[in-house]
Amino acid sequence: YFFLFFFCPFCSASPQPPPRPPHIIIYLFFPLFCASGGAVPPATAGVPEALFQVPQWTGRPQFGDLQLNVALAAAKAMGRNPREIAQSIVEHLDLAGLAEKVEIAGPGFINIFLDSHGLADAIRRMQESTRLDLDAVTAPQRVVIDYSSPNLAKEMHVGHLRSTIIGDAVARVLEFLGHQVVRQNHVGDWGTQFGMLIAELEAGGVNSAALQLADLEGFYRQAKAHFDADAEFAERARQYVVMLQAGDAKCLALWQTFIGLSLQHADEIYRKLHVSLQPADTRGESAYNDDLPQVVAELEAAGLARQDQGARLVYLDELVDGEGNPLPLMIQKGDGGYLYGTTDLAALRYRIRQLRAERCLYFIDARQSLHMQQVFATARAAGWVPAQVELLHCAFGTMLGEDGKPFKTRAGGTVKLVDLLDEAVNRAARLVAEKNPDLSGQEQAEVAEAVGIGAIKYADLSRTRTNDYSFDWNQMLSFEGNTAPYLQYAYARIASLFRRAEASMDACEGQPELRHESERQLAIQLLRFREVVHQVGLRGYPHELCNYLFQLASCFMSFYEHCPVLQPGVEPAERTGRLVLAAATARVLGKGLDLLGIRTLERM
Ligand code: ARG
Repeated sequence: YFFLFFFCPFCSASPQPPPRPPHIIIYLFFPLFCASGGAVPPATAGVPEALFQVPQWTGRPQFGDLQLNVALAAAKAMGRNPREIAQSIVEHLDLAGLAEKVEIAGPGFINIFLDSHGLADAIRRMQESTRLDLDAVTAPQRVVIDYSSPNLAKEMHVGHLRSTIIGDAVARVLEFLGHQVVRQNHVGDWGTQFGMLIAELEAGGVNSAALQLADLEGFYRQAKAHFDADAEFAERARQYVVMLQAGDAKCLALWQTFIGLSLQHADEIYRKLHVSLQPADTRGESAYNDDLPQVVAELEAAGLARQDQGARLVYLDELVDGEGNPLPLMIQKGDGGYLYGTTDLAALRYRIRQLRAERCLYFIDARQSLHMQQVFATARAAGWVPAQVELLHCAFGTMLGEDGKPFKTRAGGTVKLVDLLDEAVNRAARLVAEKNPDLSGQEQAEVAEAVGIGAIKYADLSRTRTNDYSFDWNQMLSFEGNTAPYLQYAYARIASLFRRAEASMDACEGQPELRHESERQLAIQLLRFREVVHQVGLRGYPHELCNYLFQLASCFMSFYEHCPVLQPGVEPAERTGRLVLAAATARVLGKGLDLLGIRTLERM
């Protein structure tokens, strides 16, 4: 059977595939519009399921809006003529109301030309809908997302940027799709370093109020220097670790003081970054201290942990390197201490049992891939993870300097996140003052903030997260190209159009006419929003949304160049239709940027 499943922005079709009957099915995950609630009746065309493909957007109107190349691949495998197969597929396609024309081209490409009335109607509905006609998923999941998760001993540095902003974008997308998102900031708030830090707190007689947030990094350095130079201090620091672990009240209080300050600093960064993490989302490593013996005991009881010179390790068949050498996960050291992985296992257990996670995402550097693999495999082997629960390490590459080496200060030190963000805002402020000196001081500051922070975030989010990327101030702050300022400017331009039209963007309703090709292309691009948002929710790659928004802005610029809106001589119906297209564009840009955690401005 051919069964067309439409990922459809034009109707209320569910974005999940329907249950698969035991026949050949073709899922067309693309935003076509359909009159019949998402599925076109099955029909026989004899193509094996393994060969089915998703139709591609052509981007070139002469080849139709969508192209289906399944006949070519099928022909090879089936030893049949591709045009014949294409013919038989086309005969079984029922695209009434969806496509105005279906053509077989060349050796057997199927070109689908969408119906302009249907497109226009869908844009009208999109503009009428408060959610841009993007329905919530029919099967919401409880998704636990581990992101940001800095170590609290030190100040947040650039190494924490990627997890924080990529994780936040995906959290926002999943929430918007209707999933129940539980954010988990798995901060590193435990370990030997804290002995040193509380010894320093005490030695300096520093009362908590006097320890300035800005000094966190300096404080760490001071403690470390003290530790290295003074044997007595070092001994005390070690003692404090033991006392801390034993629950000594005085040590705990000092530790608490330090953690509180460090968390306050992290929170300040989150506010500056316009990230949605809240203090209540913090559940640090220390929260799992009491579970660790139990985790080890359960793994032992399950026969998974092996002793090796007093240490305990988990060996699993699937945990081997390329040569078949085992890559065990150590869960307890010879001295009885627990490790990063033990805590992660406890956290995973907590997420499944207490948070009732149906899906767990981890936004962590790619260099921790083996670690995540070990944790996931061990938790599954222990039977803690129901089979249907997805565990996904959403890995990302490294942020590099303009020299292609890991991003560092000129002196070779780590770059504090707060300094990086402040510099972004300062650079943006200079740009704004230059480009629009007429804005009031207050307005200039707001624009600088949104543009500077937006630029940093967007430069990161627009890269395929698994790759490394080079940090480049000039590129990210450019008003041309795939950047935040370009998109923010496109938005502001539409806002200004509406000010001149003395019309409200949100209340702008009606049916566009789509007579000019650039209007049609803009409409199609607008309607693809749904497909892209779902895609980001499934795979966790925000760059797909960035690319989409960039293309949308480009489609808009082309439309705006070709289609006058407020000029005299434009008929009222045409003017309304074009305003609707502009309003829908601004709304999608605004929502898209909002999902990325980037602000838009009415004036720039
Ligand atoms: N604190 C760790 C680091 O800075 C990251 C923690 C990531 N999350 C986790 N569940 N392991 O490297």
